[in-house]
Amino acid sequence: MFIIKKLPKNTIKKIEKYRLNKGNLYGSITVPGDKSISQRAAIIGLISIGKTIIEDILDSEDVFYTLKAVESLGANVTIKNHKVIIKGIGLGNLTSPKKPINMGNSGTGVRLLIGLVAGSNAIVTFYGDESLSTRPMERIIKPLEKMGAKFIFSNGKKLPITVVGARFKGFTLPITYKTLVASAQVKSAILLAALTARGITTVKEPFKSRTNTETMLLERGVEVNSKTIKAGVNIVKIKGTSYLQGSQISIPGDPSSAVFLTVAALITKNSNIIIKNVLNDNMRLRVFKVLIKMGGKISFINKTKETLDIRVKYSNLSNVSIPAKDSTALIDEFPILSIAAAFGKGKMSMKGLGELRYKESNRFLAIELGLKKCGVNIKAIKNNLEIIGQKIVLGGCEIDSKNDHRIAMAFNILNLVSEKPVKIIGNSSIVTSFPSFFDIFKKLGISIKSYE
Ligand code: S3P
Repeated sequence: MFIIKKLPKNTIKKIEKYRLNKGNLYGSITVPGDKSISQRAAIIGLISIGKTIIEDILDSEDVFYTLKAVESLGANVTIKNHKVIIKGIGLGNLTSPKKPINMGNSGTGVRLLIGLVAGSNAIVTFYGDESLSTRPMERIIKPLEKMGAKFIFSNGKKLPITVVGARFKGFTLPITYKTLVASAQVKSAILLAALTARGITTVKEPFKSRTNTETMLLERGVEVNSKTIKAGVNIVKIKGTSYLQGSQISIPGDPSSAVFLTVAALITKNSNIIIKNVLNDNMRLRVFKVLIKMGGKISFINKTKETLDIRVKYSNLSNVSIPAKDSTALIDEFPILSIAAAFGKGKMSMKGLGELRYKESNRFLAIELGLKKCGVNIKAIKNNLEIIGQKIVLGGCEIDSKNDHRIAMAFNILNLVSEKPVKIIGNSSIVTSFPSFFDIFKKLGISIKSYE
């Protein structure tokens, strides 16, 4: 650790050289901290009074950019004894930085911070890398405009964006808003803006998205509650507040990182691993339930309220159907689930994957074309994917991850067991969420080798 003054450039160069070699995975390891919680801990630290002390924050590029942004908006960020300490400035006191804020590749970081600034008296310009600059922002701008914020764009409704907070010359309005997509980022942007509104803001989402923002605000005394009604519609209500107290938080391991190791162990003969200290959150663990349904030898052990350990053994997988209503909970896991499906018996049907087109890359297309190139029988029908699993996947091709960390990691796992090597372009993007990815494989006994 850690990050705050410099980017892990050496790591970028180092991992660009490697690819995974064949072998089996054996042993027990921990995965880095949860990305969603790490970023929210930093943002909530900024608007809290007093110190927020964060242990085991994810040491990755996305978190780096969020911490840098939190500094630019007025917080004092230091690192002591491997802990990140944020001296917050309270709600409504954000600094208007002189320079635009670079959010790198971080969709969560930028959407949540745009929400926060929308409810403040600050004026802030945000920009990002090539991928982030193509991602849709209208989904957050629409509700935030209704709350009184103003936006200035130069690239359609995409980054770079200048946000003029609702309290710059007025006040934050509470709203009732129905989101078109089930997105935790959209919901969270509205909830963070609503903290400074006088009254109750209501967000209705078509399906329940991950709940980290609600949970963390509730733990800090904010009045926020949610209920799921018919056909999965989720309604969240939040009351504006004036004060959040700094707190201490220890970040559990990221289930979305753990699942890459899990699938690697499931499809690599003789593997037997334990992944320790993973976030115990029903929605975020849904992917493991799917893998268990597929016949994966996976068990949850040493459960506490916050964390659990996951034991995984090599398994013969059978494919299943995933209905559209489950796609929100599994949204980050489809790239690696597709790799598992490529080795499962029978047909895997995954429905309602439209949102995959708007991630760090067009993941829908990346999965479809990438697996086809590797010799897998995959069919795209509207927003659904069908994969017919097979015993042997040929590989012997090059996959351009388009600098999408989860696409790069997923195809690295396929490369473990494909008949011929798969060369992945853009492994450097893995620093976005899981910089120790290759090191962890090494610890589990898979040797890594330089590209010739
Ligand atoms: C995240 C929400 C998800 C997910 C992303 C992290 C979050 O995005 O894909 O990796 O931390 O809120 P959407 O809510 O836009 O689907």
